[in-house]
Amino acid sequence: MNPVQLRQHLESLAAAGVLDLPRGPSVAAVSQSPQPAPPRVQTPPRVQTADLLAGLDVLRSEVAACQQCAELASSRKQTVFGAGSPTAKICFLGEAPGADEDAQGEPFVGKAGQLLTKIIEACRLTRDEVYILNVLKCRPPGNRRPLPDEVTNCRGFFERQLSLLSPDVICCLGATAAQALLGATEPIGKLRGQWFRYREAAVICTYHPSYLLRNPAAKRDVWDDMKLMMRHFDVQL
Ligand code: URA
Repeated sequence: MNPVQLRQHLESLAAAGVLDLPRGPSVAAVSQSPQPAPPRVQTPPRVQTADLLAGLDVLRSEVAACQQCAELASSRKQTVFGAGSPTAKICFLGEAPGADEDAQGEPFVGKAGQLLTKIIEACRLTRDEVYILNVLKCRPPGNRRPLPDEVTNCRGFFERQLSLLSPDVICCLGATAAQALLGATEPIGKLRGQWFRYREAAVICTYHPSYLLRNPAAKRDVWDDMKLMMRHFDVQL
């Protein structure tokens, strides 16, 4: 890691709430010492890449044409399918697009998204190396929580999306994602910090970045969850 990369990494850590690093070699020594290879977060997909991309394209078109939730379909600017690497080993599953995502057609691009980007970078990854999707593909008006019927209507979409992506790890951001994926009923504070399973994938739950914007003290817990998640890939943060 050169000094510029080191500085960017430390800034990401700080933005993600990591202000205390374990005692170790000095920063100068760290910047000069050999660094472990970056985490291998992409592997050959389990289906052929062409089939995977074609499958995602078909699904994206179905999502874009969806009219199942009349209120959402009539109020959205566009659907927000997902973004990132189709061969990523880690998928971040959020709740639903907000105003910024509705305008740009990409998940997590507003304030909460900027914080998610910092969290991803603190894991020594980039947004392009993971995949980000939401339970709902349309913005609920006024950014209200998704209704149970809306989650039911979108279930076929996010489940097919995850089955095409076949990540090793799914990180549920907040209670809506955890409940939709795992059927969990406990609050997110009880679900975080442990592993669950969804089909072939290991699942970890953590606080939603929007919650962190209101409760910065919870960043410490999210950092612990990210450390646990990255240990799955033999990466010590
Ligand atoms: N919150 C979410 O859950 N998803 C987004 O895409 C943006 C904010």
